[in-house]
Amino acid sequence: MASVYDALHERRSSSKVSDEAPSHDEILELVEAAGQVADHSGLTPWRVIEIRGESRRLVGESLAAASGLHGHDAEKSIRKSFRAPLLLAVVVSPRPSVKVPYWEQEAVASGVAHALTLLLHERGYGAMWRTGIQTRSEPVRIAHRLGSDEQMLGWIYTGRRVDRPRERRRSRIDVARHVSTL
Ligand SMILES: Cc1cc2nc3c(=O)[nH]c(=O)nc-3n(C[C@H](O)[C@H](O)[C@H](O)COP(=O)(O)O)c2cc1C
Repeated sequence: MASVYDALHERRSSSKVSDEAPSHDEILELVEAAGQVADHSGLTPWRVIEIRGESRRLVGESLAAASGLHGHDAEKSIRKSFRAPLLLAVVVSPRPSVKVPYWEQEAVASGVAHALTLLLHERGYGAMWRTGIQTRSEPVRIAHRLGSDEQMLGWIYTGRRVDRPRERRRSRIDVARHVSTL
């Protein structure tokens, strides 16, 4: 079994994937595992929406509408939501809490999304977390039926990985710039 260290180094996003999507049951299994991230007070302030088939059009349409696109430009933009057979919308679903402010709850949801990309990669699925400047727009909120307090974190586009296995890439982290001592 690969170490967490190796898994983090070996993960990479895949912009192109095949039409084979993880099944609903597999998504349930992976989301359950992703939900094991650190979570202040165990609020589980997040949810995941599976978007397959023609439902993907709702994502593209809402983003295009939010950008004020019409006709050919809108169609071109909508086609982008068909780049993978399954889109997993990750949503921050904040719970009322005096102790845990919103930003901490968003940090938990973000952790779940990162864990999901890692788990999908381990299962041989390509995954790419995508957003756009209209991710938190009203048309997108309506299309995803978000509650008034919920916020989108974007979509993990996923399907069977088709990239050739590649060498582990050189780390982009110049660690000395990211770690300091107080
Ligand atoms: C919150 C978030 C939003 C992102 N949105 C986009 C996006 O809209 N388009 C895009 O090309 N990459 C986006 N990315 C970056 C890709 O998911 C990916 O990390 C990047 O292409 C680098 O590839 P790597 O993950 O293999 O290092 C986003 C990443 C995060 C964490």
